[in-house]
Amino acid sequence: MLAPALTILSFAAVSFGKLYERVADLPTLQYDFVIVGGGTSGNALASRLTENKNIAVLVLEAGPNPGGDLNVAVPFFSNGVSANNTIYSWNYTTIPQVGANGAAYPFSRGYMLGGCSAHNGLAYTRGSAADYNRYATITGDQGWSWNSVLPYFKKSEKLVPPADNHDTTNQVTPSVHGTSGPIQVSLSGYAWTEWQGHVLQTTKELPNDFPFNQDYNSGKPLGIGYMQSTIGGGQRSSSVTGYLNSTVLARSNLHILLHAQVSKLVNPVASRVVPTQPTAFGGVQFKFGGSLYVASASKEIILSAGPIGTPNILMHSGVGDSVALKQLGITVVRDLPSVGKNASEHPYTGLNWSVNSTQTVERMFTNPDLYNSAFAQWNKSHTGPFTDAGPGTMLAWLRLPKNSTTLKAYPDPTPDSTSPHFEILFQPTGTDIYGPGPYAPAVSFTMALVSPASRGSVTLNSNDPFAAPTIDLGFFTNPFDAAALAEGLKLVTKITSAPNWKGYLVTPSLDITTLSDADLVAHVRSVSGPGYHLVGTAGMSPIGAQYGVVDPNLKVKGIYGLRVVDVSVVPIVPAAHTQAVAYVVAERAADLIKQQWNL
Ligand SMILES: Cc1cc2nc3c(=O)[nH]c(=O)nc-3n(C[C@H](O)[C@H](O)[C@H](O)COP(=O)(O)OP(=O)(O)OC[C@H]3O[C@@H](n4cnc5c(N)ncnc54)[C@H](O)[C@@H]3O)c2cc1C
Ligand SMILES: *[C@@H]1O[C@H](CO)[C@@H](O)[C@H](O)[C@H]1NC(C)=O
Ligand SMILES: *[C@@H]1O[C@H](CO)[C@@H](O)[C@H](O)[C@H]1NC(C)=O
Ligand SMILES: *[C@@H]1O[C@H](CO)[C@@H](O)[C@H](O)[C@H]1NC(C)=O
Ligand SMILES: *[C@@H]1O[C@H](CO)[C@@H](O)[C@H](O)[C@H]1NC(C)=O
Ligand SMILES: *[C@@H]1O[C@H](CO)[C@@H](O)[C@H](O)[C@H]1NC(C)=O
Ligand SMILES: *[C@@H]1O[C@H](CO)[C@@H](O)[C@H](O)[C@H]1NC(C)=O
Ligand SMILES: *[C@@H]1O[C@H](CO)[C@@H](O)[C@H](O)[C@H]1NC(C)=O
Ligand SMILES: *[C@@H]1O[C@H](CO)[C@@H](O)[C@H](O)[C@H]1NC(C)=O
Repeated sequence: MLAPALTILSFAAVSFGKLYERVADLPTLQYDFVIVGGGTSGNALASRLTENKNIAVLVLEAGPNPGGDLNVAVPFFSNGVSANNTIYSWNYTTIPQVGANGAAYPFSRGYMLGGCSAHNGLAYTRGSAADYNRYATITGDQGWSWNSVLPYFKKSEKLVPPADNHDTTNQVTPSVHGTSGPIQVSLSGYAWTEWQGHVLQTTKELPNDFPFNQDYNSGKPLGIGYMQSTIGGGQRSSSVTGYLNSTVLARSNLHILLHAQVSKLVNPVASRVVPTQPTAFGGVQFKFGGSLYVASASKEIILSAGPIGTPNILMHSGVGDSVALKQLGITVVRDLPSVGKNASEHPYTGLNWSVNSTQTVERMFTNPDLYNSAFAQWNKSHTGPFTDAGPGTMLAWLRLPKNSTTLKAYPDPTPDSTSPHFEILFQPTGTDIYGPGPYAPAVSFTMALVSPASRGSVTLNSNDPFAAPTIDLGFFTNPFDAAALAEGLKLVTKITSAPNWKGYLVTPSLDITTLSDADLVAHVRSVSGPGYHLVGTAGMSPIGAQYGVVDPNLKVKGIYGLRVVDVSVVPIVPAAHTQAVAYVVAERAADLIKQQWNL
C-alpha cells in the first residue's frame, strides 16, 4: 500500500473528474496498481480492484473517451465503427498471409476507452465447456475449468429483456446467465420474422444435422439457437457503460488518464537475492502530447493492452525472444521466447443468397424514409431495427460430419466432440452479392472456423515502441483449416436444401456444388477474412513450464509484480467471439490479485 499517494488522492478527488484528459491534472504518478489499457478487460479489472477503498489504481488508455457517440452506442452502427481508419481504431494491417493468397487484412482494434468492447459486433458467446476444461489441462490449474469460470461469466453479466420486450421463453435458459452483473446481455430486439422463421423451420425439418439449442452459452453450444448480444435497453453495453458507471467513476481511488500511450516498462531492478527474487520493473513509461512520463506501481503493473498491445509492450520492455530483441538493439530483461507466439484467430468466409422477400436490411438502404424512421425510432425509444448489430438473430455451432474426409486426413483440433468446428451467423443482409450497390434483397450465411489449427504471431520490426508491430495471423498455414472450411461450406448448402427455403432463396453468391474439392479449398483461401478474435500472444502455461508467458495466476514468468490481464493469456482461441472470455479473465484476475494482497 502507498500511503502518500492516497493522501494526495483524497483531496484531488474533490476537484477533478475521474477521467483525466490531461496528464497535468493527474494529482500523482504513484499508485498501488497501474493498469495499461482501459479496454474490455482493463476497465473490468479496474472496477473490481477499486471496490477496496484502500488501494489506488491508475488506468492508462491511449485512445479517447467515446462518450455518448451514437456510432458506438447504436448497435446497428457497429459495422461502421469497427472498421479500419476511424478515430476509434488502431488501424493495423496484417502482413500478407501466405496461406491466403498473400492477402493483407485490415486488422482494426478498439482505440478508445472500452477498447474492443466499444466497437465490436456485440455477439455474446462463451464457447464450449470443453474449451475451458482444456485450459485447465494446459495450465494445470482447475481454476480455469468450465465449472470454475461459470460463476465469473455470471458475475460479469446481467440477462435483460430484449429491446422489443418479446417473450423469451424457450429462446434462452436464464439459469445459465447472470442476474446482476455490469454487462447487459439480451436477445435480438427486432424480429426479422420471415428470415428467422426459415432458420427455425430448418431445425424442425433437419433436426439430426441441425438441432435447435435453446442456449448456446450453457457450455454445450452445438445446434442452432437465438443470438445473444451485449445490448441492454437497445444500446451497446461495453466495459465503460457496464464497469465504469457513474458510481464507479466517482471513486476517489480510481484515476483514468486518456490519450496516454504506453511505450514500455522501465527501470528494471536486478534481483536482490539471486536467483530466488526475480526482476521487477520500477515504472511504466507513457507518452502524453509530445512528452514522456513514468508512472509507478507499489504493488503491481498490469498489462491489459489486448492481444497486440500487450506483447508489443512486453517486447519493447525487453521481455521476449532474446535473439530477436538483441537484433533490434533492445536490452534483454528476460528471455521468454513465447511472447507474441501461439496467436490463434478465426477465419471467416460465407455464402450469400439473393432472396424473394421484402424483409431484408437492404430496404433500409434503398429507401431513405425507412432508414430515417428507423433511426428516429431508435433516437426516441431505443427500439426498432437499429437495436440489433449486423443484424443477426440466430447462430449455429456445428461440427464436421462424422464421416468427414478432413477429419480422416488431419488430427481434430477441437477439445472434444461437444465442441464445434464452425459457427454460422444467419443475417437478413447480403449486400456484396451485387457489388457495392444498388442493393437488392439478399441474406448471408457467414461461416467461421472456430477450431483453427494454424498459429500466428505478433513480432517487432523496429525498436520504436510507437511503431506498429508485425501481425501475422498465420491463416491457413495448417492445411486442416482450409480443408475444414471448404467441407464446412457444404453444411450451408445442406441447410439451404431444407424444403422450407424453396421460393425464398433465389441465387447463391457461388454455387459450390459445381466446384471440385480442390477448387473449394482455393476459394476458401482467397475469400476469407479475420474475425478479430485473436488470443494467445501472452499465453498461460503451467508454473515452471519452459514455454508460455504467464503462469495460471497471470503473473509474467520470472518477473515480479507484473501480470497480464486480457485475452492475450488465453492459450487457444475458444469456439466463441472473445469478449465474454475477456471479462472472465478480468473477473478471475481481480479475485487472484485481491487474494494475494489481502484486499
Ligand atoms: C472489429 C471487432 C469486432 C469484434 N466483434 C466481437 C463480437 O461481436 N463479440 C465478441 O465477443 N467479441 C468480438 N470481438 C473481440 C473482442 O471484442 C475482443 O477479443 C476483446 O474485447 C478484447 O479485450 P481485451 O481487453 O483483451 O483488449 P481490448 O479491448 O482491445 O483492450 C485493449 C486496450 O488497451 C489500449 N491500449 C493498447 N495499447 C496501448 C498502449 N500502448 N498504451 C495505452 N493503451 C493501450 C487499447 O486502446 C484498448 O483500449 C471483436 C473485435 C473486433 C476488433
Ligand atoms: C486511425 O485512422 C484514423 C483516420 O485516419 C485516425 O483518426 C486515427 O487517429 C488513427 N488511429 C491511430 C491509433 O492512429
Ligand atoms: C488500415 O490503416 C492503416 C493505417 O492507416 C493503413 O496503412 C492500411 O492500408 C489500412 N488498411 C486497409 C486495408 O485499408
Ligand atoms: C454501478 O456499478 C456498481 C458496481 O458494479 C453497482 O454497485 C452500482 O449499483 C452501479 N450504479 C449504477 C448507477 O448503475
Ligand atoms: C504453444 O502452445 C502449446 C500448448 O498449447 C505449447 O505446447 C507450445 O510450446 C507453445 N509454443 C510456443 C512458441 O509458445
Ligand atoms: C438522433 O439524435 C441525434 C442527437 O441526439 C441527432 O443528431 C440526430 O439528428 C437524430 N437522428 C434522427 C434520425 O432522429
Ligand atoms: C457421409 O455420409 C452422408 C450420409 O450420412 C453421405 O451423404 C456423404 O456422402 C458421406 N460423405 C463421405 C465423404 O463419405
Ligand atoms: C455477404 O454479405 C455480407 C453482408 O453484406 C458481406 O459482408 C459479405 O462480404 C457477403 N459475402 C459474399 C460471399 O458475398
Ligand atoms: C416469391 O414469393 C411469393 C410468395 O411470397 C411466391 O408466390 C412466388 O412464387 C415467389 N417467387 C419465386 C420466383 O419463387
